[in-house]
Amino acid sequence: MTTGQVVWLTGLPSAGKTTLARAVGHRLRARGLPVELLDGDVVRRELWPELGFSRDARDTNVRRVGFIAELLARHGVVVIVALVSPYAAARAELRAKLSGFLEVFVDCPIEECVRRDVKGLYARARAGVARGVTGIDDPYEPPASPEVVVHTDREDVEQCVERIESQILAARGLGARP
Ligand SMILES: Nc1ncnc2c1ncn2[C@@H]1O[C@H](COP(=O)(O)OP(=O)(O)OP(=O)(O)O)[C@@H](O)[C@H]1O
Ligand SMILES: [Mg+2]
Repeated sequence: MTTGQVVWLTGLPSAGKTTLARAVGHRLRARGLPVELLDGDVVRRELWPELGFSRDARDTNVRRVGFIAELLARHGVVVIVALVSPYAAARAELRAKLSGFLEVFVDCPIEECVRRDVKGLYARARAGVARGVTGIDDPYEPPASPEVVVHTDREDVEQCVERIESQILAARGLGARP
């Protein structure tokens, strides 16, 4: 298979999406594959900082990133997306639209995400400064049948990366090891 792929990491804030996207990207590049990362934070900051966090805005964000991912994948790129993407319907739309779509559920209990609180988002929610924080006062709908589920509270980064990478390579018709 020479076409691209869209590997979509979804999960709560601080679940580990960015960490895993970077590490998987690194591994795939080392295999000589063309890789691009589309990280929710970067995309919002660079392309549409004015977009908010309502359900509509979040769905728009997912659709737009899906569109960019599709353009890149059409040229053979393995696109790794790290985006909370909390709504199942928006992700189902992607699945229907994008060929080579792989959904990765980056699963981590909310208590552990709050403990990690990489960006201080949960602390701001607790202090009443931030509203509409996914997992606190905004919903997260877990995927019903993702291609991969990684449990970042009980699997280390290396184990998660291995499993995601294996799935990507399997979908390309390659074994996990050359
Ligand atoms: N197995 C694991 N996989 C990924 N991250 C892990 C794992 N175990 C521990 N961590 C830690 O959890 C944190 C995850 O932070 P990261 O920024 O990747 O989350 P995120 O899902 O991208 O959050 P956000 O949606 O806010 O961007 C990091 O500090 C990382 O080191
Ligand atoms: Mg992130």
